[in-house]
Amino acid sequence: MIRYEILHPVMKTYDVVIVGAGAAGLMCALTAGYRGLRVRVVDHANKAGKKILMSGGGRCNFTNLATRPAHFFSRNPHFAISALKRYTPQHFVELVERHAIDYVEKAPGQLFCAQSAKEIAAMLLTECEWAGVEVSLSTPVTEVERCGEGMRLRAGGERIEAGALVIATGGLSIPTLGATGFGYEVARNFDLEVTETRAALVPFTVTSQWKSTLGELAGLSCPVTARCGDGRYDEPLLFTHRGLSGPAMLQASSHWQAGMPVEIDWLPGRSIPDEWSHSRAQHPKRRLAAWLGDALPRRLAQSMMEWQGWSDRPFGELSNRDIEAFAQALHRWTFKPAGTEGWRTAEVTLGGVDTAAISSKTFAVNDLPQLYFIGEVLDVTGELGGFNFQWAWASGVACGQAV
Ligand code: FDA
Repeated sequence: MIRYEILHPVMKTYDVVIVGAGAAGLMCALTAGYRGLRVRVVDHANKAGKKILMSGGGRCNFTNLATRPAHFFSRNPHFAISALKRYTPQHFVELVERHAIDYVEKAPGQLFCAQSAKEIAAMLLTECEWAGVEVSLSTPVTEVERCGEGMRLRAGGERIEAGALVIATGGLSIPTLGATGFGYEVARNFDLEVTETRAALVPFTVTSQWKSTLGELAGLSCPVTARCGDGRYDEPLLFTHRGLSGPAMLQASSHWQAGMPVEIDWLPGRSIPDEWSHSRAQHPKRRLAAWLGDALPRRLAQSMMEWQGWSDRPFGELSNRDIEAFAQALHRWTFKPAGTEGWRTAEVTLGGVDTAAISSKTFAVNDLPQLYFIGEVLDVTGELGGFNFQWAWASGVACGQAV
């Protein structure tokens, strides 16, 4: 008898098993649990919601009040509409307020915890407990197969049968936080397409030629307009020892592919040709370096004079052609990143399980309705600013209501 159980562990059954105790998985679990379903969440990590805990610099930018489908990238831009419409940022704010979590609007629409991201993870786990959800951590899932109308899996040595299996294993970014390609493997095993995946919301690295120049400015931040492909962002840029980061560059990285240029306007909202034509007439003795030192952070102005090879001339000596050249360098400075920092630091994954085979109402696989995919594992990726969590909450709730 004992020998038989070792070889054939007891089969446990649940209405819903969710793989991944992250943002989407926990939200789905508590929603399904409150419907009276027997729900189990399994995660190979030793802590639930590791990315929540790390997010927003430890304060979790948990939603964006301006959430619209236009803030998401996907092969099918319509896919996210239904879930985002049914579970809005206001719904999540109500949940946060019910748990008396203080929050602040750090930038327009971007809501962060006033104290700590831990409060969001704790809130979700508390809700799961109230909803009767079983959460099993340090439980790797090794096998997933179809079993009649349900699904069967092996998790941490247990055999589990479920009426519905939800894959909420997220994307590939930051493997040390538990990220794996497990969700993509499951999708491929059931003949679902996975669109090309790419690290996004990630800092750019620069060629060795630029590394020492820009590295000297590490830690300095300034507002810019960044353009890459069809993306345009008015956000701060941050110099790092390895390249360029900050919200402007992270946003641009979602539009970037190897070889593409990134364009930076160092003086957004200003017009060099207008200002300098005026200065040339009014202040002909004013010198270029002094002007630049007032317009930009001083260290950046000095460095730019050097990398551009500009001599410190008075405005009165500038020709129209000179002014055009300066305007080009200041408003349309173009560089080709060497690459990105990759999965090690990327906040999200572009691409994922192709939504063509998934219901946008229930998140079930159209041809296998007992299998579901939610959150970042899908080919739906938000811009920076709380959109990715809003997608995790919205897709988790839509699925939790449907399983
Ligand atoms: P998520 O990654 O949260 O969860 C997946 C879970 O699956 C993990 O717990 C993982 O351990 C588990 N798992 C993976 N493989 C498994 C396997 N084989 N077996 C069992 N379990 C497995 N977004 C935002 O809107 N605002 C923000 O402030 C930030 N900040 C931020 C900072 C950093 C550093 C990162 C890396 C990311 C962000 N993000 C963000 C993005 C956001 O964290 C992300 O989009 C969501 O967490 C995605 O939620 P999911 O539940 O889909 O995946």
